[in-house]
Amino acid sequence: MTENQDRGAWSSRIGFIMAGAGSAVGLGNIWRFPYITGENGGAAFVLIYILCIFLIGFPVMIAELTLGRKTAKNPVGMFHALAPGSPWKYVGGLSVITGLVIFSWYSVIAGWVVGYLYKTAAGHFNNLTDPSATETIFRDFVSNPFSVILLTAFFIALTGYVVFKGVKSGIEKWSRVLMPILVVLLILLAIRSVTLPGASEGLIFYLKPDFSAINTNMLIAALGQAFFSLSLGMGTMITYGSYLSKKDNIPTAAAWVCTFDTLIAILAGFVILPAVAAMGKAYTEGPGLIFQVLPSLFGEMPGGQIFGVGFFMLIIIAAITSTVSILIVPVAYMVDEKKWSRRNAVGFMCLIAFVLSVPAALANGAVGFLSSLPGLGTDYFTIISSLFGDVSLTLGSLFIALFVGWKWSTAKAKEEIESEGITFGLAKQWSFLIRFVAPITVSILLGYTFRDNIWKLFFG
Ligand code: PFF
Repeated sequence: MTENQDRGAWSSRIGFIMAGAGSAVGLGNIWRFPYITGENGGAAFVLIYILCIFLIGFPVMIAELTLGRKTAKNPVGMFHALAPGSPWKYVGGLSVITGLVIFSWYSVIAGWVVGYLYKTAAGHFNNLTDPSATETIFRDFVSNPFSVILLTAFFIALTGYVVFKGVKSGIEKWSRVLMPILVVLLILLAIRSVTLPGASEGLIFYLKPDFSAINTNMLIAALGQAFFSLSLGMGTMITYGSYLSKKDNIPTAAAWVCTFDTLIAILAGFVILPAVAAMGKAYTEGPGLIFQVLPSLFGEMPGGQIFGVGFFMLIIIAAITSTVSILIVPVAYMVDEKKWSRRNAVGFMCLIAFVLSVPAALANGAVGFLSSLPGLGTDYFTIISSLFGDVSLTLGSLFIALFVGWKWSTAKAKEEIESEGITFGLAKQWSFLIRFVAPITVSILLGYTFRDNIWKLFFG
C-alpha cells in the first residue's frame, strides 16, 4: 500500500469531487454570495466574481490539491516537507489559525439556520404576509444571547462529532446524497422567486451589469468571496488533496468543483435577489438577507412549510460538510505534527472555536458594544468575518501561488499532476496564471484593502 492509501483515499474520482464540492458548497454559496452580491451592485459583481473563480481560484485550487497529494500532509507538514527549515511553515501556521477563526463565526450563522429550521418546523412563519414581519423576527432572534450561543455550540459540537468519527466516510456519503437534492430545491425555489410579482427589478439587478459600479472594494469583495467559496487559502484543499490517489486527475477534479460551486452560488442568487425586489426589501441588508427573504418565500409556496424545513436541513448539511473540512485543518495539524490523539485534538479545537464564537454570536444586537464597536463604526462580526474570511484567505492563496510558482516550481507540480499517465494539457496556461496573474492581481488588491480598509479601520 502506498502512504496515500494507508491514510485512506477517496473511494473514486467522483468521491473526491463530491467531497471537494461538499467543502466548497456551503453557507458561502447560499448565505454569503447573495448578500455580498446585493451589497456590491449586482450583475457587474457577479461577472467579476466568475472571472476571479476561473482565472485565480481554479489555478490556486489545482496548486493546493497538488501540494496535498504530493506530500499527503496538513499545511504545516506540507511546508516542512517541501521547504524544510524555511519560514514557509508560518504560512501553514496562518492556515491553522484562520481555520479556527472561520470555524467560530461560520458556526454562528449555521446556528441561525438551525434556529430557523426549528421556527419553520414549529410553524412560526405560517401565514406570514407582511414582509417587514420577517425583519422583526430576525432581529429578535439574533439579539437573544442565549439561543444564539446555544445554537452555535450545538453546531460546533456536531461538526466535532463528525470529524471525530473519521474523515472520509461521512463527508463523502453525505455530499453524494445532498448535492443533487440541494440543486433541485434551489431550482424550484428560484422558479418561485423569479415569478413573484415585482421580481423583474431584482432580475435586472442580478443580470444587467452596471459597470460604473466597479471599484476596488468590489474587486476585493469578489476575490475574497471566490477564495472563501472555493475553500482556498487555508489549507483545506491541501488537506483534501492529501487523500487523492495518484490516478486522480487533479485539474479535472478542480474544474468540476469550481463549476459546481459557482453554479450553486449563481442559483442561490436567483432565489434571493428577485425575491428581495418583490418583497420591497433592500439588497444591502447584509448577513440577515436570506433569513428575511426565505421565510416569506416559503409562505408564498404551496407546501411551503415542508419545503422550508427540507431546505433549511439541506443548508445545515451543506454547512457541516464545509465546517468539517475547516476543522480538519487544525485537527490534522495537532494529530500529525504535535502527536495529539484525534479525540483530544477535536475537543480542544472545538473548545477554542466556541470561545472565539461567543463575541461573534453576540455582535448582531445581543451586546451593544460588540454590535457597534466604539470608534470603528462597525460590528465585531463584520470585522472578524472580513479579516478571517476575505483577507487572510486571500493572503493564504497569495502565498500558495508564490510557493508553487516560484519556490517549489510549476515544473515539479506538473510532474506530480502527471505522475500516473495523466496529461495536463493546460499546464502552460496554468503556470502563467499561478506565477504571474494570481500573485500580481492578488497583491495589488491586498494592497488596496490594506490602505482603504484595514489601515483606516484601525488607524483612522
Ligand atoms: N467554502 C465554504 C462555503 O462556501 O461555505 C466555506 C469554507 C470552507 C471556507 C473551507 C474556507 C475553507 F477552508
